[in-house]
Amino acid sequence: MNILALETSCDETAAAILSGDSLLASEVASQTASHEPYGGVVPEVASRLHLTALQPLLRRAFSTAGLDIADIDAFAATAGPGLATSLMTGVSTAKALALARRKPYIAVNHLEGHLLSPFLAAGRPVVRSLGLVVSGGHTLLVRIEEFGSYHTVGRTQDDAAGEAFDKVGKLLGLPYPAGREIDRLAKDGDPSMYSFPRGMAKGFDFSFSGLKTAVRYALPGLQDARLADICASFQEAVVDVLVRKTAAAAAEHALRTVAVSGGVSCNSRLRERMAAACERDRLELLLADPKLCTDNAAMIGYVARERLARGLHSPLLEDIDPNLALA
Ligand code: KG4
Ligand code: ZN
Repeated sequence: MNILALETSCDETAAAILSGDSLLASEVASQTASHEPYGGVVPEVASRLHLTALQPLLRRAFSTAGLDIADIDAFAATAGPGLATSLMTGVSTAKALALARRKPYIAVNHLEGHLLSPFLAAGRPVVRSLGLVVSGGHTLLVRIEEFGSYHTVGRTQDDAAGEAFDKVGKLLGLPYPAGREIDRLAKDGDPSMYSFPRGMAKGFDFSFSGLKTAVRYALPGLQDARLADICASFQEAVVDVLVRKTAAAAAEHALRTVAVSGGVSCNSRLRERMAAACERDRLELLLADPKLCTDNAAMIGYVARERLARGLHSPLLEDIDPNLALA
């Protein structure tokens, strides 16, 4: 069974081809440089760039996979959540191909793609576990019962973790998106130099907007401070909350495996501290490699493959849903 999957929910255009258990191609064309001058993703610019990027990307994916369109048995695309006009590009393309080739179309939830990407990376079936999805748009703690059965146990009440990195990066004059750069600068910094607040949302929820505000108010008094120390201290505050709440949720829900995903799961300090916490609590930790953490189509193809294996596909009339929820 060969699957072509497309991902165009935000500012990466991505195409992947899966064949059975093998990932034959996973191509990503990033638009980051085009949005950087605006300090964030501009929806109109994103959808135009998806349109121009898709054709060459598809050609590249087929060439890498050594397959032809006639070899594809099903077409999948991210149907939400995301930017409406960006989602439409991938979904319309996948539907048109499915219609022309008389093959099934599978609509995939972007968040389910992220959530399960550590299982794709590990080459393992989905097991009962706790998923932490930390991306530019979402911060979710999810109890995974099995494939297709998810219960959100915590979410951010305001900014997503990646959004906090990007907004604080902007305050510090760093280019967008700033997560990777803050991570890099923090390596030379002292995380205990400044004591930024740990978001105190109740239960397993998160709140990062107070942290961003605290950095904004602290900055004028930190003129001689080293950028590295500010980055390390800010990063520590985010990571501290993510790790503590994840460990507490795993204990409360009696889950022995933790699967961390989304762009922020590339963060080296988060990976280090999550690994230490899981070792302490004797939890198994699944972390995808960075290419599968940020937006990609392989994770969309993985969900589509699992759905197809269960005899599920989507009607061609099913529309995109920019606010699609996970559970
Ligand atoms: O999952 P993703 O590629 O896109 C969304 O679905 O949002 O995540 C992008 C986010 C951005 O906010 C970016 O700053 C953040 O992931 N990010 C990082 C790192 N690499 C990417 N945040 C912290 N540390 C990193 N190393
Ligand atoms: Zn994403």
